[in-house]
Amino acid sequence: MDTLIKDQQSTASDPLLDWNLAGATAAETWELVAGELVAAAASGRHPLHLPTLTTVGADGAPQARTVVLRLFDPAHREAWFHTDVRSGKVTDMLREPRVALHWYDPTARVQIRIAARAHVHHCDARARTAWGNSAAMSRACYAACDAPGTPLEQFPTAQPHPADGDDAGFEVFTAVCCHFDTVDLLTLHAAGHQRVLLDLTGRKPTWQILAP
Ligand SMILES: Cc1cc2nc3c(=O)[nH]c(=O)nc-3n(C[C@H](O)[C@H](O)[C@H](O)COP(=O)(O)O)c2cc1C
Repeated sequence: MDTLIKDQQSTASDPLLDWNLAGATAAETWELVAGELVAAAASGRHPLHLPTLTTVGADGAPQARTVVLRLFDPAHREAWFHTDVRSGKVTDMLREPRVALHWYDPTARVQIRIAARAHVHHCDARARTAWGNSAAMSRACYAACDAPGTPLEQFPTAQPHPADGDDAGFEVFTAVCCHFDTVDLLTLHAAGHQRVLLDLTGRKPTWQILAP
């Protein structure tokens, strides 16, 4: 696994400095992906902090938008984000829980795609925990009166940051858990791109190498 950890001190020939999967196992590759996404959830500066979430709209058309990766739990195969219960994406997910998450890091030249099932947590214990772990700046977004997508006469002003313990907005806050079984990973290399579909459902991860 050591060879797979991205290390700023490594030389340019270090295989995983450029996500070279040649010679790696499926388990090592999953550890690498999971480690990066755990780090991405913890840091706003991480290139994988802002995935694109795609849902299916009422008319069957795809709807894509940016969200903040709030938590990545490799053991349970879960990626979490927060949103407003009144938003179009929640309406979509309650009707059709199948969603897609997409990341691209242009520096590492890595694409990660996850097909998942979304579980919307609203006014339950998981939502309460997520709310409690949210910064005041994040909680302020939910104190806005207007539902996302409401037509307005003018641009709204930012909400003031709530004090600790201020629950304004909790009633519209949701924590969304995206549960997945597989990961589609593509890494770009001049010598040949590498794409694998990681299957995480067994005792050990397995993979299928795919044409890029
Ligand atoms: C950098 C960035 C991060 C965002 N993070 C979130 C987020 O974590 N949750 C969220 O609901 N919307 C987030 N948004 C706004 C969404 O992209 C989207 O505009 C909004 O949620 C309405 O989407 P919907 O009408 O498709 O539900 C973010 C937008 C940007 C540009």
